[in-house]
Amino acid sequence: MKHYLDIDDIVSVPALIQEALTLKNLPYAYEALGKHRTLGMLFFNSSLRTRLSTQKAAQNLGMNTMVMNLNNDGWQLEFEDGSIMNGNTAEHIKEAAAVISQYVDIIALRAFPSLSDKEKDEAEQIIKSFQKFATVPIVNMESATAHPLQALADAITITEFQTIRRPKVVLSWAPHPRALPHAVPNSFVKMMQRMDVDFVITHPEGYELNPLITRNVPINYNQNDALKDADFVYVKNWSSYNQYGQICSTDPQWMMTSEKLGMAKFMHCLPVRRNVIVEDAILDGPQSIVIQQANNRTWAAQAVLKNILENL
Ligand code: CP
Repeated sequence: MKHYLDIDDIVSVPALIQEALTLKNLPYAYEALGKHRTLGMLFFNSSLRTRLSTQKAAQNLGMNTMVMNLNNDGWQLEFEDGSIMNGNTAEHIKEAAAVISQYVDIIALRAFPSLSDKEKDEAEQIIKSFQKFATVPIVNMESATAHPLQALADAITITEFQTIRRPKVVLSWAPHPRALPHAVPNSFVKMMQRMDVDFVITHPEGYELNPLITRNVPINYNQNDALKDADFVYVKNWSSYNQYGQICSTDPQWMMTSEKLGMAKFMHCLPVRRNVIVEDAILDGPQSIVIQQANNRTWAAQAVLKNILENL
């Protein structure tokens, strides 16, 4: 693996899942691999899980880590080519990426979308610019359109908890007071397309994700119908893709309840708003596997970093 920008960078999903599960059993087996190597973790946005689990993963592999919150602590970066930098931006990505590449062996980046400019968000300007001007591999810690480390952790979790060969997995939209990105559902959809699961998406009309990503995945606008006989229910909010970044519904009827969940396992990437996305009874009960899912963020990141280190 040279970079980890999207699910498409995974050659074999089952093999990477197995590698992550092996690392979960033997976290320090490759401690020598990252010796004298440094992971630079750059954040344009907040994080709890991604920051701590990726750092832990790197440290398990013997790597050093440098963490920087670019928005607050760095110079404001310019991404446009040929721009006259007489405004707020103080440093061009060309210099910044080249300089950072001299200090670290791998760059991991988090950069959310604007949710106001679809074309710009889909162009993934920040992560693509780092890829273009850095001389070291790039790992996506959630970009405008993708969160592949989360999706790999999701796939590991389903693999661990599945009790039948081909489980039914439902991605169910839930209401949220703020407009949220599409990165998590996009990557989850892509990952489910690479797994042997019976996959259905349910959301209110108007919340269709990018059809180039969902392709032929069945979409059922009737949540109760979609949830029938589900083994795993992944609940997530996202803003409208067609009316880009808009909140078209906050219908509380779409919140996940114990009654709707049935016998299924409950999944969410976290952070989660209790009693808006999902009722307390689920999160506090035995069917929730969100804590185990968050734990798998470490083994997902470790499997990815291991593969990249082996190709340096
Ligand atoms: N799920 C996830 O990426 O969590 P953080 O935003 O806290 O990193």
